[in-house]
Amino acid sequence: MAVQRTFSIIKPDATRRNLTGAINAKIEAAGLRIIAQKRIHMTAAQAGHFYAVHKARPFYGELCAFMASEPVVVQVLEGEEAIAKYREVMGATDPAEAAAGTIRKDFALSKGENSVHGSDAPETAAEEIAYFFAGLELVG
Ligand code: CMP
Repeated sequence: MAVQRTFSIIKPDATRRNLTGAINAKIEAAGLRIIAQKRIHMTAAQAGHFYAVHKARPFYGELCAFMASEPVVVQVLEGEEAIAKYREVMGATDPAEAAAGTIRKDFALSKGENSVHGSDAPETAAEEIAYFFAGLELVG
């Protein structure tokens, strides 16, 4: 078991409904530590850069517009196997397929408005963290 860092976004559908605290409670209950966190309002260009890997997908435009529609909370989470653990805490992308007790099962509205994002691998976690945070902002 290795201590890892992963990147998280609490998305506009969740910040709008005042769910930041409820989502953070699930993160912390799973043993993950929130070692950096800030509320930002992305431009469509910034969201487009973040989701560039999905550029060819039919939902790309909708996804970028949604992520820039209202504030989000960006976070760095730390813990044992944090990347896989957070994906477990989030649940499946589509809330209809998410397991009971997961963030997406309890809070997500749809596949697009699915409340949270989490990194899928160590390389993407490092890239995503570096896009939003300076090293000095990570307080482990
Ligand atoms: P996320 O983990 O942030 O990474 C890519 C996002 O694309 C994903 O969560 C979903 O919010 C979004 N997404 C994936 N599939 C669809 C879809 N079919 N329609 C709209 N958005 C989608």
